Amino acid sequence: MPGFGNHFATEAVPGALPIGRNSPQHVPFGLYAEQLSGTAFTAPRADNRRSWLYRLRPSAGHAPYQLMARDTEAGAPHHPASPNRLRWDPLPRPAPGTDFVDGLVRWAGNGAPLDQRGISIWLYAANAPMGARVFYSADGEMLIVPQQGALNLITELGRMTARPGEIGLIPRGMRFRVELVGEARGYICENHGHPFRLPDLGPIGANGLANPRDFQTPVAAFEGSDAPVELIQLYGGQFWTSRLGHSPLDVVAWHGNLAPVKYDLARFNTINTVSYDHPDPSIFTVLTAPSDTPGTANCDFVIFPPRWMVAEDTFRPPWFHRNVMSEFMGLVHGAYDAKAGGFVPGGASLHNCMSAHGPDRSSYDAAVAMELKPSRIDDTMAFMFESCLPIVPTRAAMLSATLQQDYDECWAGFPKARLP
Ligand SMILES: [Fe+2]
Repeated sequence: MPGFGNHFATEAVPGALPIGRNSPQHVPFGLYAEQLSGTAFTAPRADNRRSWLYRLRPSAGHAPYQLMARDTEAGAPHHPASPNRLRWDPLPRPAPGTDFVDGLVRWAGNGAPLDQRGISIWLYAANAPMGARVFYSADGEMLIVPQQGALNLITELGRMTARPGEIGLIPRGMRFRVELVGEARGYICENHGHPFRLPDLGPIGANGLANPRDFQTPVAAFEGSDAPVELIQLYGGQFWTSRLGHSPLDVVAWHGNLAPVKYDLARFNTINTVSYDHPDPSIFTVLTAPSDTPGTANCDFVIFPPRWMVAEDTFRPPWFHRNVMSEFMGLVHGAYDAKAGGFVPGGASLHNCMSAHGPDRSSYDAAVAMELKPSRIDDTMAFMFESCLPIVPTRAAMLSATLQQDYDECWAGFPKARLP
């Protein structure tokens, strides 16, 4: 996986990739050499990410970007920031002809793209291919979590398909087009801070959680089309558009360690207790984007996958807690073991800094009454974007008809404990 020592080299046309020099005086076939940097030039070697692209035309050849006409107010933070626990039903089905870019709705976020910290959380619902449009975010890498429908991600560095149960990770600045297989819906974490990486494993050892070999990187594939293309970028949280007379997905060969990747969440090696209690949910971290404070993530991407539950004398679902970190959750499929209802596939919940949450009443009652034999949770794939910065919903999220007005009720009616 990029950033973990892996270095890739791939060419769609034999002989296109220069050997030995990144930028020779004469690149094969007259291709243009271009470096795409994912970290500062001077980042430590272990963190440094960059790739060299060999393309039909330099990316620099484009007209000025113009601000796109979009409802930017809807994606603005809602004030005041709500301390309440929030939960949403899925987005409604998109209007016919909605492509991936038009189907993006900024739902929540923190930090600021131009400060290079924090995240933006997007929901998307789309039903049309992007056609003659290509998109990228200058504000952050995009961790895409499909919930319904596969996404064909046609990127500068090659093609990959991200299906529900898989994730796609597109580096900051990398251009891509999304083609759909039917209707598509899902979640995106746009990470404005340090790039996602695999978490350290400490005493777990050399293996476990998400293994590097399971992150798949595309081989070079390019488009030579000279048909007009609209190039759209996110910059400073705004959508900007420019026109090209050709496809910008024209990289014939590339090498480096900055690349899109996909990962099948079913390959996650889930680790948990085999005695009592259960570890904090950080044990389920797939990827972490560190902040400048050691051990404190700008964003952790955490999953709650199918797994065996074997702990004895233990309250097995997620316990009640109040967390200095802020938690945005989504559900890809199935049910989440801390909620008996209301948290549905495609929906979302937000439990912000210090907001008390945990199992709902019926999940609690079932968990304290159950006989604790080994049992397996199947048909489930919840996930969490967990951030050290409080997550502020947008106006679109707070004014949405999908916002559940009765969410607090799920914690009502717990009887008072009985002292002797
Ligand atoms: Fe939580």
